[in-house]
Amino acid sequence: MKKFAISISFGFFVLGSIFYFSPSVFFDDPLMADISLKPNDTDLVDLGKLVYKNNCALCHGVNLEGQERWRQPDANGYMPAPPHDESGHTWHHPDEYLFLMTKYGLEEVIGQEYPNNMPAYNDVLSDQEIVAVLSFIKSTWSTRIRLQHDKINKISKEKR
Ligand code: HEC
Repeated sequence: MKKFAISISFGFFVLGSIFYFSPSVFFDDPLMADISLKPNDTDLVDLGKLVYKNNCALCHGVNLEGQERWRQPDANGYMPAPPHDESGHTWHHPDEYLFLMTKYGLEEVIGQEYPNNMPAYNDVLSDQEIVAVLSFIKSTWSTRIRLQHDKINKISKEKR
């Protein structure tokens, strides 16, 4: 009986590990995008600058500085808009995540309920405009941070 219990728990452990490490075995993950930001493409970056000014600057700041005290929830319990410059964590995320998050919103990307104030731009911006605005954001980072972001992209692509 004890042996039986042990093998049952072991079975759960194995299943749990598979689930934890590769949830895609269980779920089809339709949220994928094969896109790359192009911070050196000046036409695209110019377009992105305009898209940023018209759609993002209100919350993320004219100079990408984010909202005040962005690390703490506001009076209503929502997180303020983080900066997109190097002091924020935008550059910690690979291209694909940034794209999907801008297109579909945070809840869709993390796959769970998470009330927040970041709009989804699916019906507002074309894919090209989203890639443009994120390329503009990347173009403002220093070479060091850009290279680090390239590495994050590489690791993320290898994981797929
Ligand atoms: C109405 C305000 C608002 C506007 C406009 C807005 N955002 Fe946001 N954005 C937010 C907030 C708030 C968050 C943080 C959400 C959270 O974590 O709860 C956020 C988070 C993000 C993140 C995730 C950053 C990270 O480090 O995780 C990205 C990327 C982003 N926004 C891109 C954009 C882009 C691109 C635009 C313009 C096309 C835009 N946002 C317009 C409010 C806004």
